[in-house]
Amino acid sequence: MPRSADRFEISHLGAQGDGVAEGPDGPVYIPYSLAGETVIALRNGANAELVEIVSSSAVRRAPICAHFGVCGGCKLQHMAPEHYLSLKSENLVSALLKRGIDRPLDSLWSAGAGHRRRAVFAAHKTRKSAVFGFHQYRSKTIIDLDECPVLTPRIVSRLSELRSLVTPFLGRRGNAKITVTDCADALDVGIEGGLADLGPDILERVAGNCAQAGTDRLTVDGELMFQHRVPEVIISGVRVPLPPGAFLQACDNAQDHMCGLIEKWLSGCSSVVDLFSGIGTFSFSMAGFARVHAVESHESSLTALKQGFSHASGLKPISVERRDLFAHPLSANELSKFDGVIIDPPRAGAISQSREIAKSKIAHVVAVSCNPNTLARDLRVLIEGGYEISELHGVDQFVYSPHIEVVALLKRR
Ligand SMILES: C[S@@+](CC[C@H](N)C(=O)[O-])C[C@H]1O[C@@H](n2cnc3c(N)ncnc32)[C@H](O)[C@@H]1O
Repeated sequence: MPRSADRFEISHLGAQGDGVAEGPDGPVYIPYSLAGETVIALRNGANAELVEIVSSSAVRRAPICAHFGVCGGCKLQHMAPEHYLSLKSENLVSALLKRGIDRPLDSLWSAGAGHRRRAVFAAHKTRKSAVFGFHQYRSKTIIDLDECPVLTPRIVSRLSELRSLVTPFLGRRGNAKITVTDCADALDVGIEGGLADLGPDILERVAGNCAQAGTDRLTVDGELMFQHRVPEVIISGVRVPLPPGAFLQACDNAQDHMCGLIEKWLSGCSSVVDLFSGIGTFSFSMAGFARVHAVESHESSLTALKQGFSHASGLKPISVERRDLFAHPLSANELSKFDGVIIDPPRAGAISQSREIAKSKIAHVVAVSCNPNTLARDLRVLIEGGYEISELHGVDQFVYSPHIEVVALLKRR
């Protein structure tokens, strides 16, 4: 059935950054519109596609990227910076309020454009080459990318060569997922949903194609196709090898900013436990003044952490433990050996680990999260256990998206 264009008054922005119009049968979400605007949009259920802006908001700004409005990578380039930052902090504050936590942010720091060092692209084969870029918003269609102000200059400067590098590995059907990470010296590229079983003629060309794409390592569905040297990242001055599939904070400057906050808060501690440590983003920073115990379930991340530590100098000892912290959280008793804890779980949060911390006597708790909803749930548990939020900071490292990273310090009341 052909969709008809309707007129909408945008009342506010939703948590995902879409303009929201109150319709007779519920809210309608219209991406790229702003509060106070009148727009024409093509409606499809609760969603609508912006066709025309009839009256524009005073806070509307020209986007910094030619792909904005089509590419699904960015949602919020069309508003003044102060409104963009207020939207992010309001989203966090309202997630906390839903759990009865009435607390404003102490600061919201932004990584700015040009620092995103890891991107997940999509690609599919065309008759002559490939389309390589990001998905359109709410679509499987891929935008063929030739610029991106959010990503690091090294990734952007190699977009065309990356497209050529991945093309031979793309199957005839479906989209492949390409993870590109800008490491200390070169790019690291992983293809998922690609073809690993290729003829020798293509594999002979891979080394040359990787060199042209500034790429030190190429994996396809976890299988190593090419490696010039092991990609490394620099964490608090320590070179750490990056295993395929390991978590990495999205921006290097955001990583440094978060480490700076946590160092300031925990500098009086002599022993710190880093839960969900990954490759040691916070462990290396803490080891400048405290003994650190790093706990994590991803074995190769812990191996990388140990390798990084073995080449570092001037640090206090770091011990590591492989453990599933969802199934086997550190008990309140185990936590009592430390005077500070950092907890940085995946998006699902860490309810059972938070319950153990809440029962413990540990003096300083640092909670790091990229999901305000699960963070709010876990903070509630800590507050009910006798902690109070001493500092709360937002870190805008998912620039121009509605997402926000949060770092909080809690102390016993
Ligand atoms: C948000 S990342 C944080 C990593 C690290 N703190 C950093 O900043 O780089 C979450 C980490 O939790 C780990 N993880 C996921 N599930 C886990 C589990 N059940 N037990 C322990 N660690 C887990 C992941 O491997 C990942 O390294």
